[in-house]
Amino acid sequence: MANKWTPDSWRGKPILQVPEYRDASALEDMEADLRRRPPLVFAGEARSLKRALATVAEGEAFLLQGGDCAESFAEFHPDNIRDTFRVLLQMAVVLTYGAALPVVKVGRMAGQFAKPRSSPTETQGEVTLDSYRGDMVNGMDFTEDARAPDPDRLMRVYNQSASTLNLLRAFAQGGYADLHKVHQWNLGFVADSAEGEKYSDLADRLDETLAFMAACGLTSETTPQIRETDFYTSHEALLLWYEQALTRIDSTTGDWYDTSAHLLWIGDRTRQPDGAHVEFMRGIANPIAFKAGPSLEPDELIRLIDILNPSNEAGRITVIARMGADKVAQGLPPLVRRVKAEGRKVAWVSDPMHGNVIKASNGYKTRPFDRILSEVRDFFAVHQAEGTHAGGVHLEMTGQDVTECTGGAQAISDADLTHRYHTHCDPRLNARQALELAFLVAETLKQARTPKLRRAAQPS
Ligand code: PEP
Ligand code: CO
Repeated sequence: MANKWTPDSWRGKPILQVPEYRDASALEDMEADLRRRPPLVFAGEARSLKRALATVAEGEAFLLQGGDCAESFAEFHPDNIRDTFRVLLQMAVVLTYGAALPVVKVGRMAGQFAKPRSSPTETQGEVTLDSYRGDMVNGMDFTEDARAPDPDRLMRVYNQSASTLNLLRAFAQGGYADLHKVHQWNLGFVADSAEGEKYSDLADRLDETLAFMAACGLTSETTPQIRETDFYTSHEALLLWYEQALTRIDSTTGDWYDTSAHLLWIGDRTRQPDGAHVEFMRGIANPIAFKAGPSLEPDELIRLIDILNPSNEAGRITVIARMGADKVAQGLPPLVRRVKAEGRKVAWVSDPMHGNVIKASNGYKTRPFDRILSEVRDFFAVHQAEGTHAGGVHLEMTGQDVTECTGGAQAISDADLTHRYHTHCDPRLNARQALELAFLVAETLKQARTPKLRRAAQPS
């Protein structure tokens, strides 16, 4: 890439999916204010995640990335953060057990507040207003006032992200994530379900293992891996004014890091190779990801990788495939083959959510659990057939007992969607559905590793 990168070089490129702020000087004041704030994450942490993702790319680990479609100011509550975190922990235990692989845990949390939309405006009756673009941009109410983009929201996002991250760090490092607590992570409404019971059985087995390990001298006191976990944050780097303001030079390496999260990704609608979002992302040293929807051609995929990872560094790029249940079996193999043929190091992850949105009979936007499952299964099957590693899943989920996605063991119906539909954007898996999915993925991983283990056990 001939052109010099600077934190603001994206400003000279075409940009999609961002609001038009009415008051340019208010936005500039806000950017200046944010530039004076402490970083939310440290470069060294982003490098640890990059190393972990390199192991995913190499087939030695599995990525679990999940959280809200959109975080919101209204749902900001310590219990919500805790509940999502503990479902992620439960899922990670299930996956680690099933796959016998380390699970890299990344939340769509502490910064996931800005959304791309299918239309820049929304019309109700005679009135047309800006679309709601997430709490980082404007308000959800259909009024002129709420929908006007407001730069002050950037500071509110920063503050909410800082306290969310603070709690997540405390949970991850302060004893809550200790493996001796596996039983306590079972949420009330999950514990009574079939998935909850299955989880409880697994937790019993884990207890036995821990007792055995303790007898060998490996306890929470002696072994930090039992006592605490690494938990990372991520969001879509959509609002580049915010991302730029939090982009700082790391004094140890001299590289630029976007300190708003450990991992940032580019959405399916903003991945134009000559667009502003790709320009911004190419210059930050964080691990990054981009979404690969059904319109992505192999040539463009390679072009993106060339721009974003010219040195072919492992762990730098995660490709999040979100094809749709009906498209993944056809759409994914050409991409996987091309990347493999060209020797590019990427981690492949499945987002089975964004290609599977439908309108329910009563008009609610939903995602049928069967389709989500079917996309994940096909994703695994493609990698199995191509001899590549199915590296992880990227999910929209919550620890709450919501009714937003239909189906699952709970058999949520179209009519049930009216009960607890709380999302600020897309429908999320509830805690039971998320756990159910984790068990099914663990089963698939177990089958995939069995031949490998058998081979390893055979005398050569
Ligand atoms: C998202 O992850 O919330 C999202 C909008 O995804 P995509 O860019 O894949 O549509
Ligand atoms: Co979404």
